Amino acid sequence: MHETPQRGKRKLILFVDDDASLLRLGRLTLERAGYEFLGALGGQEGLHRARASRPDLILLDYMMPDISGKEVFEQLRRSPDLKLRRTPVVMLTALNVIENVLVLSQIRERNHQLELEARRSFVAMVRTLITLLFAKDSYTGQHSKAVARLAEGLALHCGLSEEEAMHVKLGALLHDVGKIGVPEGVLCKPDCLTVEEVAVMRRHVHHGEQALAGVPRMEALRAMVLHHHEWWDGNGYPAGLCGEEIPLGARIIAVVDAYDAMVSDRPYRDALPRAVAVERLRAGAGTQFDPVLVGKLFDYLAKHEAVEQGEIDLEFLEEFCPVVIK
Ligand SMILES: [Fe+2]
Repeated sequence: MHETPQRGKRKLILFVDDDASLLRLGRLTLERAGYEFLGALGGQEGLHRARASRPDLILLDYMMPDISGKEVFEQLRRSPDLKLRRTPVVMLTALNVIENVLVLSQIRERNHQLELEARRSFVAMVRTLITLLFAKDSYTGQHSKAVARLAEGLALHCGLSEEEAMHVKLGALLHDVGKIGVPEGVLCKPDCLTVEEVAVMRRHVHHGEQALAGVPRMEALRAMVLHHHEWWDGNGYPAGLCGEEIPLGARIIAVVDAYDAMVSDRPYRDALPRAVAVERLRAGAGTQFDPVLVGKLFDYLAKHEAVEQGEIDLEFLEEFCPVVIK
């Protein structure tokens, strides 16, 4: 009970009490609730352990034979260690100690439930958007899944972490979700668009960005959706960003989006051969596309010649959610 534990990701609670049975109960309850526990049998030991371990919270018995909880508290507040001075302290009496420990356990359980609810809501929201996109335009829905698969692979090939690549994958999956707001007469028109229709079509980046506006901690994702039609030379839309002003995720999506569109059948033409698509990307490197990313995509495609196009498994959202709602 008295050894100093290794600090992990869990919050460390120091429990100072002269009653060993209460310390045992505290350890049992707090560890079950997901906290890291450190016990101190009395005020002197409590001060020593507080200084050595700098806990996140201190539970402090008021009545102790060597130094009272009040004296321990005052010494902590006079500590030269700023973190220790600011450490929350809950003063306990014999009557309320068990009650307080149980309340902490209940708070932890409630937080866990809220996290699960937020995760379910997020997954449902993304699935709803994808379903609506498929209903509106099955090509765009299918294309988005293919872009998501390839964008994740390219992101990892570029050295991004798995978490960053998962953000890019989700951004790619939702990059054209704003097309839900584009009239079908424009979205599915087999002929060339008029100038006015082009302007209507271009608004899909704003529709998409706004659709994600209410989702917390999604700024990076919204930026990918908003800027995936920017050009490396600044001639894209909507903001005319150029070079590395364009978020990396948006640049990855841009090059993969163009590649997949070229190698897919469209209402107005058959799929282009891969060699033609590669040549067109090469021609656009440095003007429309980030030239480094174009090279990386060629490397990736060469190493993953058998990369399948089409469906991806949306189950990855289940893993992604905890990352974004923390
Ligand atoms: Fe788009």
